[in-house]
Amino acid sequence: MKRFLFALTALAVVACSTAPKMSQEEKEAFKFADKLIEKMTLQEKLGQLQQFVTKKGDVTGPDGVKRNLDEAIRQGTVGSFLSIRSKEEMLRLQKIAIEESRLGIPLIFGFDIIHGCRIQFPENLGASCSWDMEALEHAARIAAEETTSLGIHWTFSPMCDISADPRWGRVSEGAGEDPYLGAKVAAAIVRGYQGDDLASDNTIAACVKHFAAYGAPQAGRDYHTVDMSEMMFRDRYLPPYKAALEAGAATVMSSFNDFMGIPASGNKWLMHTLLREELGFTGFVVSDYNAVHEQVKHGTAADGKDAACQAMNAHLNMDMVYGDYITHGEALVKEGKVSEKTINQLCREVLAVKYRLGLFDDPFKYGRQNHEDVAYRPENLQFAREVAAKSMVLLSNNGVLPLKNVKKIAVVGPLADAPRDQIGAWISFGEADHSVTTLSAIKERYGAPNVIYAKGSDFHKPIKGGIEEAVRAAKQADVVLLSLGLPYTEGGEATSLTEITVPEAQQALLDAVKKSGKRVVVLLGTGRAMDVRNEVEKADAVLVTWHGGTMEGPAIADLVSGDKNPSGHLTMSFPYCVGQCPVHYNMKITGRPRNNPQHDKKYLSRYMHTPNEPLFPFGYGLSYTEFEYSDLQVLTPEVELGGVVKISVKVTNKGKYDGDDVAQLYIRDLVAETTRPMRELKGFERFSLKAGESKVVTFEVPTSDLAYCHRDLSFKADAGAFKVWVGEDSNATLEGDFTIK
Ligand code: BGC
Repeated sequence: MKRFLFALTALAVVACSTAPKMSQEEKEAFKFADKLIEKMTLQEKLGQLQQFVTKKGDVTGPDGVKRNLDEAIRQGTVGSFLSIRSKEEMLRLQKIAIEESRLGIPLIFGFDIIHGCRIQFPENLGASCSWDMEALEHAARIAAEETTSLGIHWTFSPMCDISADPRWGRVSEGAGEDPYLGAKVAAAIVRGYQGDDLASDNTIAACVKHFAAYGAPQAGRDYHTVDMSEMMFRDRYLPPYKAALEAGAATVMSSFNDFMGIPASGNKWLMHTLLREELGFTGFVVSDYNAVHEQVKHGTAADGKDAACQAMNAHLNMDMVYGDYITHGEALVKEGKVSEKTINQLCREVLAVKYRLGLFDDPFKYGRQNHEDVAYRPENLQFAREVAAKSMVLLSNNGVLPLKNVKKIAVVGPLADAPRDQIGAWISFGEADHSVTTLSAIKERYGAPNVIYAKGSDFHKPIKGGIEEAVRAAKQADVVLLSLGLPYTEGGEATSLTEITVPEAQQALLDAVKKSGKRVVVLLGTGRAMDVRNEVEKADAVLVTWHGGTMEGPAIADLVSGDKNPSGHLTMSFPYCVGQCPVHYNMKITGRPRNNPQHDKKYLSRYMHTPNEPLFPFGYGLSYTEFEYSDLQVLTPEVELGGVVKISVKVTNKGKYDGDDVAQLYIRDLVAETTRPMRELKGFERFSLKAGESKVVTFEVPTSDLAYCHRDLSFKADAGAFKVWVGEDSNATLEGDFTIK
C-alpha cells in the first residue's frame, strides 16, 4: 500500500505540480485507475487511448488498418466509440468489453449532442441570445436525460469557442463574441449535462471544445490557421474554456487548428502547461476527428508515428478515429520516444473518467431507461417553445408587430414550412418529422382557413411560378409573414461563406411581395449573424428566429401574435457588411479612434465608404414595450482592490405590454498597462416587468472580474479609473465612474 501511495504521489507531481486540490471523488477515481493500470499490458493501456467509429462490423481507421470490431474489443485495443446510433449495438459491444476482454474494462460511448438530443432547442448562438442561464442549463439537462436513455455516456459539447466572424459557419454552435457571457453560458451547459453526480444514470460527461481558439481562423475559413498573441488569447478566448472547466467538465477536445505555430493536438503548452498545470484539469483530452494525424498535413509531423509521439508527449489522451495511437504506440515506447510513465498517465486519466461515470460499477446502467418514456416529453417540448421564443431577436418593427386586427395571413418563403432546416445543422438524434413549422403553428393560432401558404422560392433558386403564387397569396392577406434565410446546410462545420446576405432569389421574393402593398414581416432563419440591410430597409419588421429547433413554429406564433413579447438580445453583432468582419463591440480602441461616427477626417481608424460600427450591436434587441433606464448610481465610487463594485439603475416599463429585458453593464478601464477594449460586458440581469412597473437592478462586480492580461502576461486587476455604462445593449448611454484604489 505504501509503495502504491508513493507511486501515486510521484505521478501526481509529474502531472500537475501547481494544480488546485482534487476532489475526494477524483482522488478515489485515480486510486482505482492506478490499481487497474498495474494489471494492464502496454497494448491494453494503448487501447484505452483509442477511439473509433464503426463501419459495418469493422473499425477501419483512415490509416488503412482494418480491425475487426468485436475482436479489437476482445483484445482491449479500443477504449471508446463515437457516433453509434443504435442502443442495442452499444449494449452488444459493451457486453463484449465486459465479458470477453481480459480485464473487462468498460467502453465509453460519445456522441455530438449539440443543442438537444431528440428535442432540438435553438442552435446555440440563438439560445445564447436568451441570456437566460437557468434555461440553458435546463435545456442541457433535458438533452442529457434523452441522451443517456439511448445508452450514451458522453457528449462533445459545449463548444466554448469565442467568435466574432460570421463567415465562419460554426458560430452557430457557440455563444457569440463575448468572453464574459460566453463563460456564463459554458458553465451553465456543463452543469446541465453533468448535474451534481456524474455517476448518475441520467447525466453525461461534457467535453470542452475546441481547445483552443478554434473560433479565430484566418479570414473566417474553417480549419484555417489561427495566429494570435497569448495576451489576446488570455483576454478574449480563454475565459469560456476556463469557466467550463471550473464548472467541472470531465473532458476536453483539442482543436483542428494550429496555435502559435503548433497544431493544438501536439501543443504541449496548451495540453499540459496551460490545461493541466495552470488550470488544474484532471480529466482527459480527446483529439478532434483525425486531428492527431493531421499534424502530418500541418507539416509538423513526418508521419503517423511522429504525430502520435508528439500528441502523447503533449499530454493528449485519446486519439479520435485515425488510429495512430494504437498503431504506433508500442513501437514508440519500445524505442524510448514515449515513456511508459507517460502512457500510464494518459491511461489513468481516461480510466478515472470512466470510473467517475460509474461505468466500472454498472456498465449497462446507461440506457436501462426506456427511451420512449424520456424522449419528447410534453413538458420538455413546452420548455423548448419557451426557450425558442426567448432566443428570437426583434431587429426592427414599425408597429406591424404584434399583429392586430388581422384576419388573413400569408405565410411565405423557403423556411416557412421547412421542418429539417428549422432544427439546424447538427441535430444528433433530432427528427424533422417532429418539427412544428411556422406554417402549421400559424394555422393553429389563427385557424387554417385564414392562412394562405406559398413557398415562393427555394433558398438559392427561383421556383417556377413561385413569385406569382406568393404575390397572389399576399394580395389576399392583411399581412405577410416571410420566412427567409439560410438552409441548415449553410451553418455549422465546414460552411464558411464570403457573402452573408440573404440569397438573391429570396431578395427577389421580398421585393415582389412588398410590391403587393401589404405589410411584410421578415422572419430570418440563420445560424450566423448576417448583413440584413436590405431586409431592414424593405420589411415592416425583422425578427431573427435563428434555426429555432423543434418548436420554432409555435414560438414564432407566440411572438408575432403578441401572446409573448420578444426579449432576445444579440450575442453576436450583425455587421453592416461582410467587409467589416470580424466586427465586435469589444474591439480595442486604437491610437486614432474615430469617436464621432459623423467625423470624416481622413487619418483616423475608419472605412472610407462604410461605418465602423455593425448595423446591430452586441446586446441589441427590441421589445413591443419600451424600457426606460434612468438614475444610474455608483454605490461604491471608490473600491479597494479585492472589493466589489456596486452599481444600481432604475428600469421602468413605459409601454403598454408586459415584457422581459436584459439589463447589461459595460465598463472601460481608462488607463491600463495594456490596451483595452472600448467596452467590456461585466454584468447582466434578465428580468420581467409589467406595463407601467419599475424596478431597481443592482449589479455587483467583484474587482477580480476586471482582471486583464498584463505586459508580463499575468492576469490580474489593478487600481485605476473606470467608466461604466448600463442599458439595453452595448451602445448604452447611461454612464458613471468608479475608481479602484
Ligand atoms: C468536429 C467536432 C466533433 C467531432 C466528432 C469534428 O469534425 O470538429 O466538433 O465533436 O467531429 O463528431
